[in-house]
Amino acid sequence: MGKAKHYIAVTVLVILATLFLRFFILGPIYRLPNAASAQAVPIDIMFSAHFWLISFLFALIMVIMLYSVFVFRRKQGDDEMGPYIHGNTGLEVAWTIIPTMIVIGFGVWGAVVLNELTAPNPQEMTIRVWGQQWAWLFEYPEQEGITTPELVLPVNQPVVLEMESRDVLHSFWIPEFRVKQDLLPGRKTYLRITPTEVGDYKVRCAEICGLQHSVMLADVRVVDQSEFVAWVDERTAAPAYADLTPVERGEIWYTEFGCNACHSLDDTVQVGPSWQGIYNRQVELEDGSTVTVDDAYIRESIINPNHQIVAGFLPNLMPQDFETRMADKEAEIQSTQGTDIDIIDDIIAFMQTLE
Ligand code: CUA
Repeated sequence: MGKAKHYIAVTVLVILATLFLRFFILGPIYRLPNAASAQAVPIDIMFSAHFWLISFLFALIMVIMLYSVFVFRRKQGDDEMGPYIHGNTGLEVAWTIIPTMIVIGFGVWGAVVLNELTAPNPQEMTIRVWGQQWAWLFEYPEQEGITTPELVLPVNQPVVLEMESRDVLHSFWIPEFRVKQDLLPGRKTYLRITPTEVGDYKVRCAEICGLQHSVMLADVRVVDQSEFVAWVDERTAAPAYADLTPVERGEIWYTEFGCNACHSLDDTVQVGPSWQGIYNRQVELEDGSTVTVDDAYIRESIINPNHQIVAGFLPNLMPQDFETRMADKEAEIQSTQGTDIDIIDDIIAFMQTLE
């Protein structure tokens, strides 16, 4: 009876301490963001299993240790030697085999879940993702190649992201979706997501990739099917460019070529200078000289972005392929609509309106 009392007391204390740690310590500290994808479900179950196991192991060790310290402490006047214990083979075998089995079990479980989450789905829609210092670009090959700096996803539609970096390593991470994948230059990587909750989220880069790593963010909108279709229609309805003014076209190019990822229109400084009031302004360059932001300077800065960098900004951030990309677009408009357009002239006209 004497021994049984201690076993019961320790068991009860371990259970109470486990519950306390799980719900009042680990739970609040590691509160996960809302789960907003199908992939989040099995991952959250694994997180929860880990929290339970961590709480239990910590409770088991601390309760037995503290219980021994307080309950079996030396009584006043007790000068006897304690019993000499050499070892306990049964206990040692048990504490080797049981944790080994648990760790292997978690490993197998993790592998099975990873396999499920990365398995291709016949209904999945492909979206290409480009990462570059320090912006994201999304391309929808199944929606006539829409390109956009924000990621728009139809709810409950499985998507596969086909990702590649234009420079260094980046990592695509939306905490609410749980899954994460690196982007590599020159090699495609894939990430599969099925968003389940309509709402606004953010992609954040989770691989340190240079000075502006922490601001490498992009908006994510999960919308219902009809809203997605409307968004695609709006994006794919090719405007009759000849009917638009240069200013209106310039505003289209501003988002279509992703200028908006780095250049604001409201004077906030992002990766590149704001366009607000920039036209005809004097700016100081890295070498201390000044130039006027006129047509020639703007054209040169788009075609050859590293040539004259404004003081306070860094070279090699702006993609250097705008000349080809814009020429391709101009040729496409010429062949489909028979209209001659100079995209840079349009952009300059747009900039002139940004007082
Ligand atoms: Cu891209 Cu950090």
